[in-house]
Parts: sequence; C-alpha cells; structure tokens
Amino acid sequence: MIEEVQKHLKEVAAFSSHEAEAIENFRVKYAGKKGILNELFAAFRTVPNEEKKAYGQELNTLKTAVNEKVNSLQSQLTSSAKNTKINDPSRTPFPIETGNRHPLAVVKNRIIDIFTQIGFTISEGPEIEDDWHNFTALNLPEHHPARDMQDTFFIQTDPDILLRTHTSSVQVRYMEKNQPPIRTISPGRVFRNEAISARSHCIFHQIEGLYIAKEVSFTDLIQTLKYFTNALFGNSKIRLRPSYFPFTEPSAEVDIYWGLETETDYRITKGTGWLEIMGCGMVDPNVLKNCGIDPEEYSGYAFGMGIERIAMLLYQISDIRLFFENDIRFLKQFKATL
Ligand code: DAH
Repeated sequence: MIEEVQKHLKEVAAFSSHEAEAIENFRVKYAGKKGILNELFAAFRTVPNEEKKAYGQELNTLKTAVNEKVNSLQSQLTSSAKNTKINDPSRTPFPIETGNRHPLAVVKNRIIDIFTQIGFTISEGPEIEDDWHNFTALNLPEHHPARDMQDTFFIQTDPDILLRTHTSSVQVRYMEKNQPPIRTISPGRVFRNEAISARSHCIFHQIEGLYIAKEVSFTDLIQTLKYFTNALFGNSKIRLRPSYFPFTEPSAEVDIYWGLETETDYRITKGTGWLEIMGCGMVDPNVLKNCGIDPEEYSGYAFGMGIERIAMLLYQISDIRLFFENDIRFLKQFKATL
C-alpha cells in the first residue's frame, strides 16, 4: 500500500503544465470527490495496524504535495495571464514621464529663430581656445589692461590655451574662414573666473552676433537690436549706453527695462530698474584686418549677449544659480515651453 502512495508522490512531483485545463484535470484526478486521495484515505481501514502510522504520514505528504503543486501551477498561470495583458492594445496606458528642454536651451532656440528669420546663419567654435582667437585678434594684445575685464581660466601647462571668456572668439574664427557679406550668430558656453552669486556664475552662455558687409552703419545695429528685443519680449524698452570694448568702436551696452516693483527687482538690477543684456558696437577696423578682411571695403557690427540674463528676464528668475543646479522641481516648470 505504502508503495502505491509513493508511486503517486513521484507522479505528482513530475507533473507540470501551463494549460489551465490540464491543471484542473490533475486536481480533479487527485483531490476531486472521487479522486485518488479520497480513495487512498478510504483504504486506510484496510491497512494492517502496524503500517497505519507510516501509511498515514505518507498519505498526508501526498495530500500536501498535490495541494502545493496545484497552487503553484495555478499562480504561474495567473501571473503569465497578467503579462499577456501588457500586450492588450485596449489597455489604459501607463503614464509616461516625458522630459523637457532646459530653460536655457528654450531661450537659446528662441533667439536663434529670431535671427535666422532675418538671414543670420549659426556658427560655433571651441570652448578651449587659444590666446589669438579669444584676445589678440580681438584687439586685446598681451598686457592690454582690458584683458582684466574678463577673469580667465588658463590651462596650467600652456599659457596660450584657455577656456574662452566670450563667444567673440567665434567671430574671429568665422571671419578667418569667410569673406563678407557675413551674417552669423554664435551661441555657446563661456567661462570666467568669477565668484558665484545670484547675478553671476563662472560658467554661462552667450550668443554672439556679427554682420559684415559694405556700408554697414550704427543705425543698422540699432534697428536690428530693436527688431530682436521686440520679437523676444514684445514691446520692450531698451537703452544704449556708451561703453568700451576693445573689439568695437564705437561701443555700447544695451539695457532692457526690468522694473523696480519688488525687492527682487532691486537686487537683480542693483536698484536701477535696468538690466544689462548685451554689449555691441561697430567692429574695430583692427579686428577686421587681423581676420583678413579689408576695413577700407567693409564695415560691420557685432554684439554679444548673455543667455542666462535674458532667460531670467523672460521667466522672472531671480537667481542665476538655479540654471546649473539641475533641481528637477525647477526644471519641470518649463515643460510647457519648447
Ligand atoms: N564679448 C563681450 C563680453 O563677453 C560682449 C560683446 C560686446 C560682444 C561687444 C561683442 C561686442 O561682439 O561687440 O562681455
């Protein structure tokens, strides 16, 4: 008798199926009303007394084995049924977390759109520059005091190599390779050895603009700047302040009116209500000469603006550091913008 129970034990252990019907048949065969287990339990009476204990134990083992087998096969079935549901085209979709562009990229793209609409191309240059393209060709020879205007990160092993302090270096590269008419903007990252605060950072972004052709005048520059600020800010108030840059003559700084209503306005604008957004001017003839363009024949204007400043103005962001901290709570707020 015991041998028969053990035979069934082996059979139960060997059984496996992924078919619901086969599993059910197996269950009925063993655990059904007229199943093997009941049959064997009924036979208990006929077992000789001295074998009863061992037989009973074996039978209980078989009963447990049957239950466990049925349960495990059935749960496998339901979990694979769940998996097939994933391929159900009518299911409710899982929410997908989409990313979004960084606010600086959004602003950069808007600026690019505005200038490309009036015929400017886009040009780029390296972030690791040499002295010629960042300084010397731009009318900033060695020991020129204006070099101090931009605190520079030098590559320690070579004083000729540095992290570019402005995207004006791209003008030089562009003029060296192209003859007028030139109409290009150069977006890029720049580096300055400056203390980090709410208003300035050691890494930031600029867009440089350059227009070289015959008989370009300062009025052309002003008109382009007005077109640009109106396109970006809507009707906005700007002012040009006379300034000095070694690579332009005359030079000016462009301010946009930010307002003076809140404490933040005071802090950001240093109490003036105006925020400087770019430098500009007529390209110095020396720069044209340095880059292989004849200043007798051609003239042009250039400008350079900080993307962070403009983004702060557009989105009313009071601290430049937010752009670089990658705090998802900050970045997520620009989801609606493209
Ligand atoms: N390179 C200047 C800066 O980083 C900005 C600038 C001023 C660029 C005047 C120009 C310009 O092209 O004409 O502060």
